[in-house]
Amino acid sequence: DAKGLWSGRFTEATDAFVAAFSASEHYDRRLYQEDIRGSRAHARMLADCGVISADDAAAIDAGLDAIEAEIEAGGFPWDPALEDVHMNIEARLTERIGEAGKRLHTGRSRNDQIATDIRLWLRTVIDTHITLLRRFQRGLVDLAEREADTVMPGFTHLQVAQPVSFGHHMLAWYEMLVRDEARLRDARERVNQMPLGSAALAGTTFPIDRDQTCAALGFDAPTRNSLDAVSDRDFAIEFVSAAALTMTHLSRMAEELVIWASPLTGFIDLPDRFCTGSSIMPQKKNPDVAELVRGKSARVHGALHALLTLMKGQPLAYNRDNQEDKEPLFDAADALRDSLRAFADMVPALTVNRDRTRAAAREGFATATDLADYLVRQGVAFRDAHAIVGKAVAHGVAEGRDLAEMSLTELQGFSTAIGEDVFEVLTLDGSLAARDHTGGTAPAQVRRQVAAARERLGSG
Ligand code: ARG
Repeated sequence: DAKGLWSGRFTEATDAFVAAFSASEHYDRRLYQEDIRGSRAHARMLADCGVISADDAAAIDAGLDAIEAEIEAGGFPWDPALEDVHMNIEARLTERIGEAGKRLHTGRSRNDQIATDIRLWLRTVIDTHITLLRRFQRGLVDLAEREADTVMPGFTHLQVAQPVSFGHHMLAWYEMLVRDEARLRDARERVNQMPLGSAALAGTTFPIDRDQTCAALGFDAPTRNSLDAVSDRDFAIEFVSAAALTMTHLSRMAEELVIWASPLTGFIDLPDRFCTGSSIMPQKKNPDVAELVRGKSARVHGALHALLTLMKGQPLAYNRDNQEDKEPLFDAADALRDSLRAFADMVPALTVNRDRTRAAAREGFATATDLADYLVRQGVAFRDAHAIVGKAVAHGVAEGRDLAEMSLTELQGFSTAIGEDVFEVLTLDGSLAARDHTGGTAPAQVRRQVAAARERLGSG
């Protein structure tokens, strides 16, 4: 039990409830690979610096190999009385190799050890997320190309606003994910710093070589201040913050997918394999995957809040509060990973009901702005044009007809500046094609952006 580890100072064993209350091995065992990797690098460095013998380092290395295999085979005797992953592995090492195992923790503390473990773990997690993000981006770009000429209503306030290309809409999602990726890459730089050597808080009296452990573990640089290195978890907060924002984006996409898959719009069909049925209503096909992604965003936002609050009251340096960082961090990372995977698989596989999206764009006077712009080109001031078209729309609402369905004489009743060529600007495809500039919805621009995105994504 733990008493063995600090028995010198204590006169009684840890209270049983306190032992359970302070144990974290049931969740931080997830860091066993990182913990073992860090211990290997530390032991080798200690030997190279003459702090422990080469024989001890070799024994430690072999012992850790055996323990890793034991954990992977499910045979490791995890003991909550040993608190966390670090003491479980260290105690087992000493059980297996004896004296040498007791030398591993020289010049090290669990405080710099855990900070190192989390950073190693998070680095890999971020790389996985970036790979998934890029897979999703690629899928959206393919979908954008496929639907570049597909007309749908663009909305503001969820009211029909102007026609847009469905592909353009997909590229809007893509742009969000490009920024999400940049934020993750940026956070990774500050994650990839090496705390080992900071020990408990002040550094160590042993002649260690931090550059060696840094290089061995693939970190960019050793941290520059031991107090800071063992205490701050801002790197984890930055990651969860980037994750929270990504989940906000995914949640917005989810919301649109749910609306589009509803018979109320009928814009898209989601593949059956990504939908679920109802236990009572035989006709149902529900977009549960999208709803779950929207729901999981709440967990990640909650994790961000938890970590910010966890940190804010802590004086330097390490405090045990920090043990509470792991569950929200793990949960946020898992939720983001699964959500990205779900959407990377599902979204590019949706089918657009092009007749429905086009019909919806034809309702709601989506080309009213095009008519106003037309009048401006005939010399009418924009504010006057806006009022003229407003009257025409009111007439159309009363008659139940769209602008394009009115006769020329009818339209000329609102402005004599209107000529026969007006019908070209009132078509949906004409409306799209006319917005032919960088960032505009013209299918030609969508294709240009698709090409640029492919260039950016390359093959990696
Ligand atoms: N399990 C702790 C954590 O997650 C690391 C151990 C440090 N414990 C301590 N009493 N100094 O942060």
